[in-house]
Amino acid sequence: MEREKAFKLLLEYNKDKFHIQHALTVEAVMKWYAKELGYDADYWGIIGMLHDLDYEMYPHEHCIKVVDILKAENYSEDVIHAICSHGYGITVDIKPEHEMEKILYGVDELTGLIGAAAKMRPSGSVSDMELKSLKKKFKVVTFAAGCSRDVITKGAEMLGWDLDKLLSDTLEAMRSTENSILTQMSDLDQ
Ligand SMILES: [Fe+2]
Ligand SMILES: [Fe+2]
Repeated sequence: MEREKAFKLLLEYNKDKFHIQHALTVEAVMKWYAKELGYDADYWGIIGMLHDLDYEMYPHEHCIKVVDILKAENYSEDVIHAICSHGYGITVDIKPEHEMEKILYGVDELTGLIGAAAKMRPSGSVSDMELKSLKKKFKVVTFAAGCSRDVITKGAEMLGWDLDKLLSDTLEAMRSTENSILTQMSDLDQ
């Protein structure tokens, strides 16, 4: 129910396939982490799916406009805080506090980098991507330059994790959820 409501809202504000796929990817990765760490996967998933809700229509008010949109849809203050905190130091001054918020902060840009690196592979997939190859791509700052290495590094620091742990866990999360995302994306075309 909650997931359906969130997905409907996502499609209302996002028409660009790239944005929808990013939302579904971050949803899947957040759910994977919640399960790993023993949290509520459905709840973390909703946060992941809706984190960029306002970006397509209000790119200059990202993480700001979303407050009104979510309030009007009766989302709780906790959901709103979690979503807005991924813009910490970029568009807002809302610091990630909860472990979930720190993970969202760390994986948001990282999923973009992993997705771009996957596209470059002969397989076009994350399924055969090794940590070593991801680390190489991470160091090449001109590669997927829009994915901020600084934000990813800060995310790992907030979590108290080695950067390698964040990279390898997120890679694993994307590996195990890639097929389901591709299925959902092709369902959208039907
Ligand atoms: Fe964002
Ligand atoms: Fe994002």
